[in-house]
Amino acid sequence: MDIPFNKPYIGEEERKAVVEALDQDVIHGDGPTTERVQSFLEDWLEIDHAFLMTSCTHALEMAMMTLDVGPGDEVIMPSFNFVSSANAVVLQGATPVFAEIRPDTMNLDPEAVEEKITPDTKAIVLVHYGGVACDMDAFLELGEKYDVAIVEDAAQGVDAYWQGEPLGTIGEIGCYSFHDTKNVTSGEGGAFLTDDEEIARRAEIVREKGTNRSAFYRGEVDKYSWVDEGSSYIPSDLLAALLEAQLDRRDEIKEKRKQVWTTYREALRPLVDDGLIEWQTIPEYADPNYHLFYLRTHTPEERDELLNALKEEGIQATFHYVPLHSSPYGRNTLRCMEELPVTQHCSETLIRLPVYPQLEKRAESIARVAVETIREVLSPASVVR
Ligand SMILES: Cc1ncc(COP(=O)(O)O)c(C=O)c1O
Repeated sequence: MDIPFNKPYIGEEERKAVVEALDQDVIHGDGPTTERVQSFLEDWLEIDHAFLMTSCTHALEMAMMTLDVGPGDEVIMPSFNFVSSANAVVLQGATPVFAEIRPDTMNLDPEAVEEKITPDTKAIVLVHYGGVACDMDAFLELGEKYDVAIVEDAAQGVDAYWQGEPLGTIGEIGCYSFHDTKNVTSGEGGAFLTDDEEIARRAEIVREKGTNRSAFYRGEVDKYSWVDEGSSYIPSDLLAALLEAQLDRRDEIKEKRKQVWTTYREALRPLVDDGLIEWQTIPEYADPNYHLFYLRTHTPEERDELLNALKEEGIQATFHYVPLHSSPYGRNTLRCMEELPVTQHCSETLIRLPVYPQLEKRAESIARVAVETIREVLSPASVVR
């Protein structure tokens, strides 16, 4: 077999959209296509304000700026995480505080988060890992009780839901990624979502290099100038065109991913029943987007052995985040000296299998090889403990 871990799902529709966008006179950002995609997102997600961004990383940076996070403030987030939310906090001179996750979903554990809340806590950044919703009831309650903002890092959560509500639209701010490892992609890209008028007003300025150029374009001021801090977070209309074509195909993309995910799930269930592996739990409140399929072994040694064995069979399975608290920057610069044993163990035992639409017809054979390999590597003797 020769199965890469990821492949963007790009077809004629996307090619046509980009060529058409090239033929327009406008290819800078915030042109007609960006406007159209933003309006689509606002209608689809029932959110007041959606801004297209150059990345989810930049959306998270803008979240910290618009929440006025600064020196002396703390922002709680999982350590089992991509670096972006931690960087966004550090760039504002504030301190990221890392909390434990739940081993069943790899999402933040609300009780562990509550223990980390102090008078300096300004926000909690949640990650909906693999497009499976966090326990939002618990986090909304914490937000209210301690008056801290809830930011949803829904980088992996486009077209996934919590009790019917789209991920990214539940907290004060939601951030999406359209990187080419995500379900819906423009190569690089993101979105910033909010219902809060004050946050949206500042976001419009921050995103436009700290200027009120957007108000100028609307004819609200006669010239634009530097009015706040900001950066250049607006993607080209070319990327918006690519994204528009992908969003048009979101149902097809999700359906094919679901089929691959479900095939793996059915094939691997006996291994879970036999206690050889564990896997992702989907809580009742979560309606996922089939972004990731992962399993967990009992020990890091088993994980490494299994990864190698799958690779030898031609399946590019892979690990995921290396915890931030114990990273070189976490330990040496942020001086995080604590241990987060659940995070560490989950990170060291996790394996992701390839999931993307093009695998629709190969999922069964991949699953068959994966099952055989897992049974071979994780002999019953190794799970008696
Ligand atoms: C949870 C999470 N947040 C943020 C990002 C960054 O997204 P982007 O590449 O769009 O900046 C990623 C990337 O994979 C991610 O997994």
